[in-house]
Amino acid sequence: MAVLVTGGAGYIGSHTVAELIDAKEEVVVVDNLSQGHRQALLGGKLYVGDIRDADFMETVFKENDIESVIHFAAYSLVGESMQNPAKYYDNNVYGTQRLLEIMKKYGTKRIVFSSTAATYGEPQTVPIEETAPTQPTNTYGETKLSMEKMMKWFDAAHGIKYVALRYFNAAGAHHSGRIGEDHSPETHLVPLILQVPLGKREHVSIFGDDYPTEDGTCIRDYLHVSDLADAHLLALERLRSGGESSVYNLGSGKGFSVKEMIDVARKVTGHPIPAVLEPRRAGDPAVLIASSAKAKRELNWSPRRDNLEEIVESAWNWHRQHPDGFTE
Ligand code: UFG
Repeated sequence: MAVLVTGGAGYIGSHTVAELIDAKEEVVVVDNLSQGHRQALLGGKLYVGDIRDADFMETVFKENDIESVIHFAAYSLVGESMQNPAKYYDNNVYGTQRLLEIMKKYGTKRIVFSSTAATYGEPQTVPIEETAPTQPTNTYGETKLSMEKMMKWFDAAHGIKYVALRYFNAAGAHHSGRIGEDHSPETHLVPLILQVPLGKREHVSIFGDDYPTEDGTCIRDYLHVSDLADAHLLALERLRSGGESSVYNLGSGKGFSVKEMIDVARKVTGHPIPAVLEPRRAGDPAVLIASSAKAKRELNWSPRRDNLEEIVESAWNWHRQHPDGFTE
């Protein structure tokens, strides 16, 4: 009996695979390696291919007894999703449809899904609860919401139970120092800040300082990627013990501004990290902070690595040892 992890060679996927391996689960990974890295896998059996490829997925399900799925495989760049919505609908929405179809065919009844705070759009109140309106302001968030809704109807029709985990801002790297964040192109704040002390860029950009926040820069809720990973195992436990389908926010409940993040990185790295003010990036909400009360209550989840300095330090530890990221 194996857990299939789609997109398991990506950033959050690989950290979840690491936790599954630690928990002695049998792990099968499907990844087309468009963003993922072979080296990011600390275990599991890798199949290189695409979730939209029915023949390929047929082989994976035939060769393994897949009892549950954790579904990460998706594109996740907000900006790109606004330029090329078709790419996002095709991989994210259609890819999920194919995955659910093959799960139905093989009688796999459980799926844990990698969703996002981008499903909410511009929040009306913070911290954001799961009952808040979902009005995505970009195609990426819209496709993730569509994927959640597709799961709801597959549950109604075929009894495939799901847990959708809406992540806030994942950061940091595995305690082993062997895996971390390596996107291409990189658009995330923490790795971009750390590129300065690595000598890979002159300065970090601050996208707007005229937001209605204390220092004018955007506030986000950063949490350690391994805490996120843990939540997937707890969600799986919930489904295995007969829990109903549900949606959970995952965040630390604490917000930090872009300027505060840069300051933390200066402290951790001992580097001055010059910052240059630039115009706002399109589609950025001013403040995103999660209420994770529901996940705490129902999944018994709480972030264990909740010191921001330690989170940034774990990222720095990985980037310093892998200045050029993964080599394959
Ligand atoms: N930022 C900068 N300079 C940079 C990069 C980012 O100022 O060089 C700012 C952004 O404008 C934003 C904050 O830093 O205010 C965080 O930006 P990230 O790109 O790191 O993260 P986002 O909050 O935009 O996005 C993350 C995920 C998305 C997801 C979103 C909401 O990366 O996939 O959270 O869940 F959609």
